[in-house]
Amino acid sequence: MKDETSLLIKKLIRQVTVCCSLIILVTLVTLLFYFDAFSKEPISLVEITLGPVASEYDIILLDDTKENLDIKFGHELFINTPKYIGPDNGNPNKVYSGNRLACNNCHLQAGTKLFSAPLVGIINRFPQFRGRENKIGTIEERINGCMERSMNGKAIPPNGKEMKAFVKYLTWLSRFAPEDGKVAGQGFMKIEIPDRAVNLKKGKQIFETNCMVCHGSSGQGLKISDNFTYQYPPLWGNDSYNNGAGMTRVITSAQFIKANMPFGTTYEAPVLSDEEAYDVAGYINQHKRPTKPERELDFPNLKRKPVSTPYPPYADSFSIEQHQLGPFQAIMDYYKQEYNIVKTK
Ligand code: HEC
Ligand code: HEC
Repeated sequence: MKDETSLLIKKLIRQVTVCCSLIILVTLVTLLFYFDAFSKEPISLVEITLGPVASEYDIILLDDTKENLDIKFGHELFINTPKYIGPDNGNPNKVYSGNRLACNNCHLQAGTKLFSAPLVGIINRFPQFRGRENKIGTIEERINGCMERSMNGKAIPPNGKEMKAFVKYLTWLSRFAPEDGKVAGQGFMKIEIPDRAVNLKKGKQIFETNCMVCHGSSGQGLKISDNFTYQYPPLWGNDSYNNGAGMTRVITSAQFIKANMPFGTTYEAPVLSDEEAYDVAGYINQHKRPTKPERELDFPNLKRKPVSTPYPPYADSFSIEQHQLGPFQAIMDYYKQEYNIVKTK
């Protein structure tokens, strides 16, 4: 009798144990699925930037830990660049940019907008080989590339507070990106490049109809009331990007405009046709802008120079004008035939 009871108890304990283990196992698996632990797919940019700035990238949601304050300063520098490092920021030791543009003027929605050279994943893509310098470059050097050209300024010291803040912000933006840093919507939207030269007369008309209302009749833009930053940034003149910037290349500029301008445009519903984007890009880049010293030293390996780089020297004998305004197909064909290099820009 005693033996029977103890046997029964043992059996009961065993059943309860099996039952409990099963419950724990099921709970664990459910939890793992819930938190997406099995999903190898990285979150793509398409999924995470559905709103103006999706909540994953909304800086307001961060509390004020030391780490978060640095990220927030990086974001602030990105949006209100001239206020901190522009020509009239009040501290002569901190004047790094030569114009009053903000990073956000070209890398829209704080660097998260698709096909506006978004910077989500950028940290994972560096260090990387750079044709313009013909060497492996760091993220700090890449940021300084935009400082010296898009911002018409000088390099920020790599260990300075501002550079560290930029990198912290970009690291935060990259936190969901896959290991190789490649995300949907990277770079600019591809367009079909018309096989003809830019039509400057049409470009002017398109500018007057679609751009002038914000960017001004002489491309000068409009500042916001704090007088530091632009609400509508200039497209040419002293306060614009210099003549060594990526935006001066007609193909790059047309691709940016296609998916982003007039302001509010997205890649899903472009306003301009490829031809119109091409003509207006050529038109805005024919105007005077600040000079980048030593542009001729760019691309030590000239074969790597993008075909629409508007300044010499070149590894071909097409005219400067053709490199500025096209037609580009003939130049691209030349590089394919002569050097077996396929050019897309
Ligand atoms: C006038 C427009 C403009 C402004 C202002 C600008 N950039 Fe850029 N930026 C570009 C363009 C165009 C490219 C891509 C160039 C190319 O095609 O190689 C780029 C590329 C970059 C890249 C590399 C992106 C990639 O996908 O490889 C980084 C990083 C970057 N910019 C950071 C900045 C920062 C930080 C600022 C502000 C200090 C800034 N940029 C201001 C136009 C701009
Ligand atoms: C409704 C106002 C508006 C219109 C219209 C508009 N833009 Fe813009 N544009 C902006 C704003 C605002 C920015 C800066 C984006 C930001 O900071 O969020 C900008 C940025 C730019 C930039 C990059 C920054 C710079 O100053 O170089 C270029 C290039 C540009 N626009 C070209 C164009 C062209 C070409 C057109 C016409 C096809 C156009 N825009 C129409 C408001 C406008």
